[in-house]
Amino acid sequence: MQDKNGNKQDSKMIEIVKLWKVFEDNEVLRGVNLSIGKGHTTAIIGSSGSGKSVLLKHIMGLMKPESGCVFLNGTCVTDLSYEQLKTIRKKMAMVFQGSALFDSMTVAENVGIGLYRHTDLKSKEIQKRITECLEMVGLHNIEKLFPAELSGGMKKRVAIARAIAMRPKILLYDEPTTGLDPIRANSINDLIVNLQNHLDVTSIVVTHDMNSVERVADFVAFLYNGTIHFEGTVKELENSDDIVLHNFVKGIDEVEEVQT
Ligand SMILES: Nc1ncnc2c1ncn2[C@@H]1O[C@H](COP(=O)(O)OP(=O)(O)O)[C@@H](O)[C@H]1O
Ligand SMILES: [Mg+2]
Repeated sequence: MQDKNGNKQDSKMIEIVKLWKVFEDNEVLRGVNLSIGKGHTTAIIGSSGSGKSVLLKHIMGLMKPESGCVFLNGTCVTDLSYEQLKTIRKKMAMVFQGSALFDSMTVAENVGIGLYRHTDLKSKEIQKRITECLEMVGLHNIEKLFPAELSGGMKKRVAIARAIAMRPKILLYDEPTTGLDPIRANSINDLIVNLQNHLDVTSIVVTHDMNSVERVADFVAFLYNGTIHFEGTVKELENSDDIVLHNFVKGIDEVEEVQT
């Protein structure tokens, strides 16, 4: 497969093989197979409740499947113990849906939480890293504020700053533009592209925002009925005549038209 710049996908950073996840009688993932190339941005699209967040949680090792594997650089993370997972998790960071900041902590404490808990860095170095990460997401002099004092867009940026603070190799974004107006959503999309260009990371963006897909993604995977129904470049998605994919994309556009 080639990305939007015509580069061939090189080594596989993440390989998801026959992943099954069932909640009681709800078969959410029914044999998901997906390869994520190193250094690219892959968008995972799918309707609400299709299992996108569940899939991300398996990549993070936060959920265990009934069967199948998520391989990270060849290691099956779904088989690992909690202790082994801790090392792997340091290489990954997730920007949770709704930002998930701790309300009782300042912005600096939120961004630095992983650094304080999981590194031996001195307090001064951590403070420096916090300010650097906030600047990378376009925020200045807000270290002492609390989440309640921030707008929705700023909260998203702080959540992204927290994610990059541990210098991860894999960045997972769960619905990063949901709940934002189109201008703020676009500036978050630009930020995702900017970070992708400046950090040595592989990114996965879960979204149902097609504008976001077009702006940030090299590759797209469409989760439908528990499996990956379509996998390809954004151009291949646009040119696809697959009726299920077409209806999904058209459905989103229609909902957006009604809202605006
Ligand atoms: N911890 C859980 N326990 C039971 N069911 C869950 C759990 N997490 C997710 N589900 C169910 O799995 C399905 C997929 O959820 P999710 O991955 O959150 O969807 P989305 O694609 O909107 O992110 C939903 O039917 C949801 O109710
Ligand atoms: Mg979700």
